[in-house]
Amino acid sequence: MSTTIFARMQVDLRAPWRIGAVEIPTRLVLAPMAGVSVQAFRRQGRRYGAGLVCSEMVSCAGIEHANERTLGYLRVGADERPLAIQLFGSRPAAMAEAARVVEAAGADLVDVNFGCPVRRVTRTGAGASLLDEPELACRIVEAVASAVDAPVTVKLRRGLADGSRTCLDVGPRLVDAGAASLTLHPRSARQMYTGEADHALTAELVQLVDVPVVASGDVTSRARAQAVLAWTGAAAVMVGRAAQGNPWALREILDGDAAPPTREEVVAELLLFVHETVRELGELRATGFVKKFYGWYLGHGRFPKQLKQELVQLPTIGDVERRLLEVVPGAAPVLEHLERQLPSDDEVELPLAISAYGGG
Ligand SMILES: Cc1cc2nc3c(=O)[nH]c(=O)nc-3n(C[C@H](O)[C@H](O)[C@H](O)COP(=O)(O)O)c2cc1C
Repeated sequence: MSTTIFARMQVDLRAPWRIGAVEIPTRLVLAPMAGVSVQAFRRQGRRYGAGLVCSEMVSCAGIEHANERTLGYLRVGADERPLAIQLFGSRPAAMAEAARVVEAAGADLVDVNFGCPVRRVTRTGAGASLLDEPELACRIVEAVASAVDAPVTVKLRRGLADGSRTCLDVGPRLVDAGAASLTLHPRSARQMYTGEADHALTAELVQLVDVPVVASGDVTSRARAQAVLAWTGAAAVMVGRAAQGNPWALREILDGDAAPPTREEVVAELLLFVHETVRELGELRATGFVKKFYGWYLGHGRFPKQLKQELVQLPTIGDVERRLLEVVPGAAPVLEHLERQLPSDDEVELPLAISAYGGG
């Protein structure tokens, strides 16, 4: 697609829009990403202009069995809202029950995953494999939509095989079944993340349904976001990989502010992310989890590669923090400033519904 053709047709990314009764303040949606979309990532996304954030996909079976780690994904803060919690599973009744639980946990939207291409998920009949089972997919959406008051949304890929146009057949049927919005990532499941997202399909889907469509895939800059919106007529763009360790990409997409962050800002945001993740996952889990973020934050030519290599070898998060502040001492006051601006925990913690603990 030529970005220049559509460059003159500017879409106001700060214009609010709605999914059902839920108002979304900007046209920028932060993508659900397994192993990435923790609360710290979502909150940061909101601070940098995402109008809607989404949990990573949450196992419906995990909720059903009150798996402790799964229930941890349902801890949402009031300052994240509007927020979607995404579910994956293949049994309509179990998905409906899981949807009730996530609504009670504070989700404004319940998103259903018909896009995950990973075998661990598709071999259970969930994720993208449901694109080849449209009747079951529709029964899942119907069951979820009748179980909750929150609007139900669906995220899908173009289909399973390369070149597939299945999304154009299944998408409208999912809307008839009760989906209040569709997000299309127009790659096949087989492609995983290779090749390009084919937003010609997004444009076709927009013509076929009367609910907002969100365009996901390869939106990495303001020019690209504007081009995709103007070309497809989608209501919003979703940004995934470009925002990993790089909330400044969201700012650039929303406002065109392309000023690179200072080294102080980068280290302060990274340390804030680390602190919040420790609070969310506990120090043990967070120590491994945050390692991939070091390269994401410190890359983009911001710091020499050796720094990341050094950080991933350090045994504790305390060591990482000390080393980063040794390299960029000026990050400490920036971090303090960021932490002071955050709402306190008791202002934003939503109590988990009793049923989320399986009644215990
Ligand atoms: C590490 C990773 C994890 C992902 N996990 C999910 C997920 O849990 N649910 C989902 O619907 N999509 C998931 N996706 C797909 C993204 O939401 C998005 O559709 C895709 O990355 C294309 O957008 P991008 O080019 O902006 O990254 C994931 C993508 C990545 C890279």
